[in-house]
Amino acid sequence: MRNAIVLAAGKGTRMKSKTNKVMHTLIDRPMLAYIIDALRAVNVERIVVVVGYEAESIKQAFPDVEFALQEPQLGTGHAVMQCSMLAKEEGNTVIINGDGPCIQPETLEKLFQANEDASLTLLTTVLENGGNYGRIVRDTQDHVVGIVEAKDCTEAQKEIREINAGMYCFNNKDLFENLDQLQPNNAQKEYYLTDLVKILSEQGKVVKGLIIDDRDEVSGINDCVELYSAYEWMRKKINTKWMREGVQIVDPKRTVIGKDVVIGKDVIIWPNVEILGQTVIQDFVEILPGSYLNNAIIETGAKIDSSKIVDSTIGQGTTVGPMSHVRNHSHIGNHCRLGNFVEFKNTNFGDGSKCAHLTYVGDSDVGKNVNFGCGVVTVNYDGKNKFRTTIKDGAFIGSNVNLIAPVTIGENALLAAGSTITQDVADGDMGIARTRQSNKNGFGDQYKNK
Ligand code: UD1
Ligand code: CA
Repeated sequence: MRNAIVLAAGKGTRMKSKTNKVMHTLIDRPMLAYIIDALRAVNVERIVVVVGYEAESIKQAFPDVEFALQEPQLGTGHAVMQCSMLAKEEGNTVIINGDGPCIQPETLEKLFQANEDASLTLLTTVLENGGNYGRIVRDTQDHVVGIVEAKDCTEAQKEIREINAGMYCFNNKDLFENLDQLQPNNAQKEYYLTDLVKILSEQGKVVKGLIIDDRDEVSGINDCVELYSAYEWMRKKINTKWMREGVQIVDPKRTVIGKDVVIGKDVIIWPNVEILGQTVIQDFVEILPGSYLNNAIIETGAKIDSSKIVDSTIGQGTTVGPMSHVRNHSHIGNHCRLGNFVEFKNTNFGDGSKCAHLTYVGDSDVGKNVNFGCGVVTVNYDGKNKFRTTIKDGAFIGSNVNLIAPVTIGENALLAAGSTITQDVADGDMGIARTRQSNKNGFGDQYKNK
């Protein structure tokens, strides 16, 4: 059985923020979410997250894992001591710092497998300068025999370039049988998890160090500069993957794609585009500069031009933008056109319908082949409640019409430009609601010559 403990109780002082470090966003989700996803991807059954600082925010964001509370925070070893719910489990337990979001499932899989015949396996990497990382101490036969924290290093130990990545796999029994041997006799007066390396190796147990070539994958994030490094690394990794799949990302330095996004074939993504969340982009889609898509489904052949699409679907061959905003569970049909400066909120828009300019459509059910003129507003909110507008197939909505909801416009009905529509209009009828024009003879000249 596979278990995991994620350490996330510390504040992350170097972030200089009130938010817990692991809750800082990387591309489109908190750092911690990447770690939990990676653990699930390698079939870890029980995941315990150790929380302390701002515990509630983490608990709310991750309802599907278990939590252990560490209060006060007396070090990484002390954090693991709070996880007694795992003490009786069989098998292997990965312990991972919550600030290492770039770790990939393949690496975790290697870590679990390496520990099948060991007591402890830890991930290490080699840096030019070990900085604040714990240094790996090996004996003359190259066996890992200890980790010395940067603050406890002798001058000679500071020169060691192999460092502890803060990601370990323990035989669960060995872990919990030896935790009580940790002592806070070090520079930081903390219970160091890393001391277990020495404890287990002195018992003659097998301790392995697995060296990871890509140091960025296992880096810990401690401040906003390192958060940016992780962002760059992850962005490049995701974009490269999609380019290899044939997605034409015109300038990958100016395109951000979340890790769960799915993209089809013959897709072109122009610069300054963000595609996040559970977005799906089907084949032959083009995303023009300045677009932001989050949890959007963009169907085959659609074209999105500098627009924002959130929690919504855009149908096949539909064009959106420039400067449109589609949100809150809107479903735009096939071969529609949403043009310049239009906002759609919680609206169904039937196949072939068009809304080209300066319009707000909220809480509406619009049929097929409906045409909206410029400047239409569905007036869906009376200050207290929201109401729906229904517009049936083939209706023609003139420019600058206000539809005061709730209201229903029939099939092939016509609304005269400039009308404020408060009553239903039957199929095939026209609604007109405006005062008749009167012209005053010569008034124009008089005014001008005054
Ligand atoms: C730790 C390791 C160090 C390693 C580095 C890798 C120890 C003693 N040192 O150092 O060898 O090179 O990670 O990034 O483990 N945490 C708790 N409770 C605590 C203290 C920390 O949950 O009482 C959590 C933090 O929230 C954080 C993680 O543990 O997510 C690591 O803590 P941090 O203070 O960043 O450890 P480092 O000093 O970086
Ligand atoms: Ca750290």
